Formats: sequence, structure tokens, C-alpha cells
Amino acid sequence: MKREMRPNGRTTPVPPLGPAAHRRLAKPRGVVPIGGSPSRPAWCMSGIMCAPAPAPRDAPAWPLVLGIETSCDETACAVVDGTGTVRAEAVLSQLDEHAPFGGVVPEIAARSHLEHVDRLMTRVMTQAGATYGELDGVAATAGPGLIGGVMVGLMTAKAVALAHGKPLLAVNHLAAHALTARLTDTVPFPYLLLLVSGGHCQILVVEAVDRFRRLGTTIDDAAGEAFDKVAKMLGLGYPGGPAVERWAARGNAGRFAFPRPLKGRPGCDFSFSGLKTAVRQAAESLPPGPFAEADLADLAAGFQAALIDSLGDRLEHGLQAFTASHPEGRHLVVAGGVAANSALRAALLARAEAHGLALVAPPPRLCTDNAVMVAWAGIERLRQGLIDPLDVAPRPRWPLDPHAPPAGGTRPPAPPAGEAGTKA
Ligand code: KG4
Ligand code: ZN
Repeated sequence: MKREMRPNGRTTPVPPLGPAAHRRLAKPRGVVPIGGSPSRPAWCMSGIMCAPAPAPRDAPAWPLVLGIETSCDETACAVVDGTGTVRAEAVLSQLDEHAPFGGVVPEIAARSHLEHVDRLMTRVMTQAGATYGELDGVAATAGPGLIGGVMVGLMTAKAVALAHGKPLLAVNHLAAHALTARLTDTVPFPYLLLLVSGGHCQILVVEAVDRFRRLGTTIDDAAGEAFDKVAKMLGLGYPGGPAVERWAARGNAGRFAFPRPLKGRPGCDFSFSGLKTAVRQAAESLPPGPFAEADLADLAAGFQAALIDSLGDRLEHGLQAFTASHPEGRHLVVAGGVAANSALRAALLARAEAHGLALVAPPPRLCTDNAVMVAWAGIERLRQGLIDPLDVAPRPRWPLDPHAPPAGGTRPPAPPAGEAGTKA
């Protein structure tokens, strides 16, 4: 039986959703008090939630899961089934609302999620041709992210779960990015993961649905954050990654001698602030006034090449550690918004092949934030019986590997037996 960490820090046994649980759920029942009982799963907080019966667990498409993503500036909903078929999905970008501020404004983001999530959810359910009663679970990003937005999505999922008697699946946003490669390419565990998004830059070994071992993280900026800050500096708008990539394609990466932070140092940690400063200094050294197009392209190309080179250097250490500790591993996976960058994907392909690994890079639309990955992570959790109680708390911070040392630190001794794999 799986154990889940409750918000109060105690672990509570959570029954896997086996056929017996389904039979129990199929029986309509009266409203029962919150708190759980031997005849009622701990996550089941209302009698009205226990009908109608979901699809049998051995049906090929089991389970059918609704996913909700609201952790940053995209409101997204999706319905995905156990075969990996995306029955419906929708992503509503808030770009226009944040653009005047040059970055995401948390309060604007939360209000916008609140305004749109219900409509989006209704739309994907209609497009999927599914009723809420036919769902096998409701998944939402429960962190890490901007807390106002996370609360909106998680509360919405809780409401649906409670009203329709469905298991709630509180998904870690980073785990959702990490597990996407299993949806797109059925990648088996273990695999090495380069997670590069707007808020995170990490190298992890993915050992199981809920077991991650972090080998390195960033000391300062995340890779996507560096793209966004450099884009802002160059007047390219937000989000910066796609704009920098477009300009870089036309530029000469060798014109400016930008540093490769931490290159040659041991370990898998990253740093990008020195690179960012070097780009600023190079931009300031140019004639005043608007940038000439060639200068802009060369700055973007030089920055992107240095960042990719730096990522590759740090990843090299990760690849060596992974192939030594997990010789059965066959895949390098790249995930998160920056994984949409085609120059990065090309560089990673060569590195993976040099170590005898296959590179798996999900399609760009599944690299940036979306709800398909949240629904899929929910499917993976449901299959393991990792169901969450309806009082699960939203988490602004939620490390995938709670025992990882801080950036630049060394790993502490292994936790006591039984604790490994629980959520931080
Ligand atoms: O995963 P994501 O959509 O949101 C977070 O969880 O942070 O990642 C967004 C980040 C932004 O910083 C954006 O500039 C970057 O991904 N990004 C890119 C590209 N597309 C998105 N960075 C480089 N090249 C791209 N093509
Ligand atoms: Zn993300």
C-alpha cells in the first residue's frame, strides 16, 4: 500500500484504486462526515461523490483524467486517457495581459485564471465528449508556482472531484514536465532529465513516477529566466526564448566572446548571471540608439550559443554520473519551455549519442506549459494509487528531490528507511 505525505506531515495509507475500490465507488451513498472510515477511502469526503461508476480498470483507455494547469501565465485544461490519447486540450495564454509589464504579474495571473478556468474546463469536457461522471480522476498542478494561480486550479479540481466523486491527483508541475516523455515516447525508468524552464534549471535522474534524484540545479537564474532577461535587455519582449531564438538564427555566434559559466568545474550545477551581465556590457558597448539588426542578431546568437554550451558542459557531468549509476538507462530527456529551442535540441542530440543514449524531446507545444502533461502525470499517479486527500495544500515551493543538497552543496546522508520518495 502506498503512503502519502499529508499536509500535517503524517503519512497516511492511501488505498490503491483497485477493482474493489471501484465497486465501492459505484454504490450511491448518503452524505458522510469528512474524515474517512474503514469503508470509505481517505480521499473520499462526500457520499454524493461515489457515483457513477468509472470505466473498469482493465479497459485499455483506463484511466480517463481531466488535467488543469494554472501555475504561471497559461490557463490550460486537457482530457487524456490511459492510452495517451489527448481527447481534448486548450491553452489560454495570458501573454497580452502581462506584456506591458515585461514579465508575469502574479495578481493579474491569478485573476485571469479565475476568470477563464471554468469555461476552458467545460470546453475541453465537451470536446472530449465526456461527462464528469465518466472521469476516473481529476488532476491539477498543486505547485510549485505562483500561489494565487495554483490555488485557482487546485480548488477547481477539488470542486470537481468532490461534486462528482472522483479521486483528486495533486500534481507537481515539474514532475508533469518530467513525465511528458513517457506520454510521447513511452520512455522507461530510469532516465536522465534536463529540466529547463522559466523557473527551473535542473539535472535529475527520474527513477519512478514519484522518485527523482537531483544531480544539479542553478545557483542563480533558470535558463528560461536568462532568455527572458536578455530578451528584455535587447527590447525583444516577453517571453524571451522564442524571440531570442529567432534573432539568433540570423546572427554570428562568434562575434562576442561571452563566458561559459562554471565550464570545466566539477558537478552539475548551473549559473547564468555572469553570462547575462556580459551580454548587458556588450550591448552597452554598442553605439547609442536602437540596435542595428546585425548587432541584435549577433548578441542573441552569442548569448544562445554560450548558454547552450554551458548547459552541455554541466550535462556532460550528469551523463557520466547517470551512465555509471544507472547502466540500464537508455534515454536522455529534455523538458520544460526551453526544450522547445531547436539549437538546444540539436546540441543535446549529439551529447546523448556520444554516451549511447537516445534523446527524447517532446514536441515544442508539450515542452511549454500545458495541461496534457498535468493530466498525464495524474494518470501515472492514479495507476500507482497515489491519490491525494481533498485537503491537500497548494505549494509555492515543491522540490522534486527533497533530499537534494542546495546548489553548490554536497548531498547529505540518505534519509532513514521508509522516508525516501515521500513528498517534501
Ligand atoms: O515550462 P514553461 O512554459 O514555464 C515554466 O514552467 O517556467 O517555460 C517557459 C520558459 C520561458 O522562460 C520562455 O522564454 C522559455 O521557456 N522558452 C524558450 C523557448 N520557448 C520558450 N526558451 C528558448 N527557446 C525557445 N524556443
Ligand atoms: Zn513549466
